[in-house]
Amino acid sequence: MADAPLADALVLFGGTGDLAQRMLFPSLYFLETDGFLPEGFKIVATARAELEREAFVDLVRDAVVQRAGPMGVDEEVWGRFAARLDYRAADATTAEGVQVLGKALGEARRPMFYLALSPSLYGAVCKALAGANLAGPQTRIVLEKPIGQDLASSMSTNAAVGAVFSEDRIFRIDHYLGKETVQNLLALRFANTLFEPLWNNLTIDHVQITVAETEGVGERWPYYDEYGALRDMVQNHMLQLLCLVAMEPPADMDPSAVRNEKVKVLRSLRPFTRADVPVNSVRGQYTQGVVEGRSVPGYDAERGAPSSTETFVALRADIDNWRWAGVPFFLRTGKRLPERRTQIAIQFKGVPHSVFGGQAKADLVANRLIIDLQPDEDIELLLMNKAPGLSREGMRLQPLPLSLSLLKAYSGPNARRRIAYERLLLDVIHGNSTLFVRRDEVEQAWSWVDGVAEAWRESNFTPKAYAAGSWGPSGAFALTERYGRAWYDD
Ligand code: BG6
Repeated sequence: MADAPLADALVLFGGTGDLAQRMLFPSLYFLETDGFLPEGFKIVATARAELEREAFVDLVRDAVVQRAGPMGVDEEVWGRFAARLDYRAADATTAEGVQVLGKALGEARRPMFYLALSPSLYGAVCKALAGANLAGPQTRIVLEKPIGQDLASSMSTNAAVGAVFSEDRIFRIDHYLGKETVQNLLALRFANTLFEPLWNNLTIDHVQITVAETEGVGERWPYYDEYGALRDMVQNHMLQLLCLVAMEPPADMDPSAVRNEKVKVLRSLRPFTRADVPVNSVRGQYTQGVVEGRSVPGYDAERGAPSSTETFVALRADIDNWRWAGVPFFLRTGKRLPERRTQIAIQFKGVPHSVFGGQAKADLVANRLIIDLQPDEDIELLLMNKAPGLSREGMRLQPLPLSLSLLKAYSGPNARRRIAYERLLLDVIHGNSTLFVRRDEVEQAWSWVDGVAEAWRESNFTPKAYAAGSWGPSGAFALTERYGRAWYDD
């Protein structure tokens, strides 16, 4: 891949919004701290509200202070960072409205436009940028999820954006791809010789992917109610994790090479049918309960009316190709679950024959690779070991974890857990789209998810209640048990 020229400015739409304040400005500040922002790189934020530049800079400072926590803000770094900041009120949907941004950009010719806005505005903003001659051939555009609500709306958003920006200049964010451990999956699989020969249906029994959250939907319900867990989490983050686990080794880390492999996985997902609904899917919605010792309201109460949106989903997915034929991928995600946990578990098959008899035979447990992404990052391989000591019944066996102890390995006075957006913003500055979602990828993911939603609709499959603080409706346990497996909840 030829080196793309560095972006020379960032224009941030939705500059006063939650994402910008909580994630994007702190990430940019940390990039400044590490010397990753190019010289002269301007940051122009925009939103509708009229705000003086000083007032805006104060807002950003508050956000950075909050994120930096006990580490504190380095005044010298802050001074450099604040000098880059500018703010312009603008109507982002008209060419006249965005002219003002052109003025703020001055000499910059390679700005990256970040749309931290409602996706319904993406098309209009791109058109406005083109109308104001701001979308030159060296500009880039960054889009947040969700790109559409189904395949049809996703295609129309992609077409509207694509009419102005060529695909190599479009950076669709899935912030999971910016997480260290998610990238570590690539390192684990492709920087070690150990796993790849075993990474298939001859040795792997099944895979579990869990993204559990303790938070509820709260104030976000107007957005969430239209999406639900399937569209909010499975269509993007969970399918991305599945792709990274299941894809073939790419030739290199070139954006096309990696994304071609991910698309192949998505295309191999077995389409969901009505027959799958009762046996391979679970929908749930949380009711009042207790999470982390706190009593919390149900989704209906937060929303203020009954709703048929799911806040929990569990699915069995099958990948119909040589590598994965017959290996179930169990996916599960939900809000108001007992703990925050993002985890991938690779369950290997048992040994083909036990040379051990007696108790030791009964002790045998198949190997398991556990990749913890959140809240702590760790990778553990469960291996069988001889339990130390003597016993009249002969040898005893016991599973013990071989752990990478990532927490310990990378802790230290200067260790800081990076925000996923730091990596992603840096990659857009450099024009590297390996960790961004290509158009065919997003559309292929929608196509599969639409199939699930359609099968649910046709079957009138409504969410089952689960108490906040539990692991979802009882059907979630039945889903794995039906296939002789169980979720790892310990
Ligand atoms: C977002 C979803 O994309 O990801 C949220 O819209 C969800 O509903 C969030 O809470 C989870 O992200 P993370 O990084 O906290 O696991």
